[in-house]
Amino acid sequence: MTTEPLPRFTVIGHRGARGHAPENTLLSIDTAIRLGADWVEFDVQHHDGELWLMHDLTLDRTTNGRGPLHAHSADSLRRLDAGGGEIIPTLPEALDLIEQRVGVNVELKSWNGCAAAVAACLRDYIADGWPADRFLVSSFHLPELWEFKQLLPEVPLGALYCGVPLDWAGLAAELGAQTLNISGEFVDARLIADAHERGLRLYVYTVNDEAELWALRQMGVDGVFSDYPERALAVAGPAT
Ligand code: G3P
Ligand code: MG
Repeated sequence: MTTEPLPRFTVIGHRGARGHAPENTLLSIDTAIRLGADWVEFDVQHHDGELWLMHDLTLDRTTNGRGPLHAHSADSLRRLDAGGGEIIPTLPEALDLIEQRVGVNVELKSWNGCAAAVAACLRDYIADGWPADRFLVSSFHLPELWEFKQLLPEVPLGALYCGVPLDWAGLAAELGAQTLNISGEFVDARLIADAHERGLRLYVYTVNDEAELWALRQMGVDGVFSDYPERALAVAGPAT
C-alpha cells in the first residue's frame, strides 16, 4: 500500500516574526522573510488618513506611547518607538519593504473606513503589477470584509474566527472567502473536512509549539500562523 505524501502547508509569519522582533514592525516583517516564511501577516488600523500596523487599540503594550491610538495625530504616532527603535509602519511602507517577495495577509483591525482605505491602497499596488492573489485580506469583523469585497473583489478574503459559530463554514462560503483562519484550540478533523468540502483552505493561528505544528500538518491543515516561522518551516514539507 502506498501512502499519499502530506501536502506542504503554508507558513505565515505572525505579525512579521513576532518571536524574534517587535511585532508589526518593518524589522519583524523583514525577519520573517529572511527566515523563509511563505507569507507575512500583520494587523492594520485606519486613523488620521493612514493605515498603521498595530494590533492593540491602545499604544501601551507595544510602544512608548500611552492611550488609544485614535487619540493621537499621525505626526505624534510617527515619533513613537515600537520597540528597539522601530517605528509604527504604515501599510505602504510595509508593502514597499516586501516588494512581492512573499504573500501579504492584511488583517483589518479597525472598522472606521479601514476596508475602504486598504482597498484603495491595494488597488494602487495591483495597478503597479502586484498579483491580486499575493494578498489575503482577513478580519474577525465579517461585515468589514464584505465591504472590502465590494470594493476590490479580486483580492482573496480570509474569514477569521476566534470561536466556532454554528454555521461557521457556511458564513465563510457566503462571504466568498478563500480561507478560514481559526484558533488552534478549535481545530479538529471534522472542521478540516467541512472546510475542504466547501473548497476553503484552513489556516490556524498562532502555533509556536513544534509538536502542535506537526500534529496540525498530519491533520491536513493548509497553513499556520507562527511567531517563529522557522519552526513551522521545519515541519511544512518540501516546497512544491
Ligand atoms: O490572523 C491571525 C491572527 O493574527 C489573528 O489574531 O489577535 O493575533 O490578530 P491576532
Ligand atoms: Mg493578526
